[in-house]
Amino acid sequence: DGKYTVTLIEGDGIGIEISKSVKDIYAAAEVPIKWEPVDVTPQLVNGKTTLPQEAVDSVFKNKVALKGPLATPIGKGHVSMNLTLRRTFNLFANVRPCKSIVGYKTPYDNVDTVLIRENTEGEYSGIEHTIVPGVVQSIKLITKPASERVIKYAFEYARHVNKPKILVVHKASIMKLSDGLFVNTAKEVAKDYPDVSLDFELIDNTCLKLTTDPTQYSDVVMVMPNLYGDIMSDLSSGLIGGLGLTPSGNMGNNVSIFEAVHGSAPDIAGMNLANPTALLLSSVMMLRHMSLDFYADKIEKAILQTIASGPENRTKDLRGQAGTDEFTKKIIANLE
Ligand code: IPM
Ligand code: MN
Repeated sequence: DGKYTVTLIEGDGIGIEISKSVKDIYAAAEVPIKWEPVDVTPQLVNGKTTLPQEAVDSVFKNKVALKGPLATPIGKGHVSMNLTLRRTFNLFANVRPCKSIVGYKTPYDNVDTVLIRENTEGEYSGIEHTIVPGVVQSIKLITKPASERVIKYAFEYARHVNKPKILVVHKASIMKLSDGLFVNTAKEVAKDYPDVSLDFELIDNTCLKLTTDPTQYSDVVMVMPNLYGDIMSDLSSGLIGGLGLTPSGNMGNNVSIFEAVHGSAPDIAGMNLANPTALLLSSVMMLRHMSLDFYADKIEKAILQTIASGPENRTKDLRGQAGTDEFTKKIIANLE
């Protein structure tokens, strides 16, 4: 029927409401996508938690998925399905753009940053031990192959978005071996990209400068190890109005999963309070990835216009009065 099939992982908590918002807007905009919803409730197989096979098969088949937030279980032995998904499909580069919305005022104007986060290792390797009670060790694993592929991705991305400047954000002054390897790998990769400049900055300094004047980073593509990227993406979100606004793409060689940067917000789930913008903008990234730019532009324009149109049309996290439903309806009304 001429439609693309995309795997949909609705997610936990507010995931249901914000996924519904996406589905409603896509139907109204007549986007040629058929959603294939899958369940990702962890399964216990031979004492290990894994994803349901149907979900894995669906993502491998469709190659593209949109994902709502999944709650991270607390306690030892529980793995985050968010991380399991990234690992299962080898989604090694996490692209996180952050752009001011004209018409929604924050202390910062014209923010336009993008960071690319290594997405498979570092402190997220999950290697931890208690040596003796009261003494634990968490391993930060950095490998050359994983560093190389994410840095290469960043260079390619920089060319593609016409920001031919890479900024490696690190702390090699202290993490001499691990971040040192990341930094040195960047220097090697850069030799294949004579048209792209390469610079380095210590992460604490980048945080300071971002909160002082984020426009200093408008023309660079930042790339960094996993945990730094996690922290810096929340910092960047804060500059433009919070986690309700920032999208992301988890990119691999064959599969990509697009998701909001925020969590499942159980405290407001089911209350018609959630802001679907981050998931919607993630879906816009997805549409561009699928070369469906016409629909991406149409939906993005309607979202931005709705947010800019005043507090009566915005959700509570954006100092507004609209519920998820009213906000969604307004976006639909603004589709051209
Ligand atoms: C993110 C989230 C995840 C992470 C959590 C939910 C595991 O904070 O995507 O930034 O830490 O990567
Ligand atoms: Mn995070």
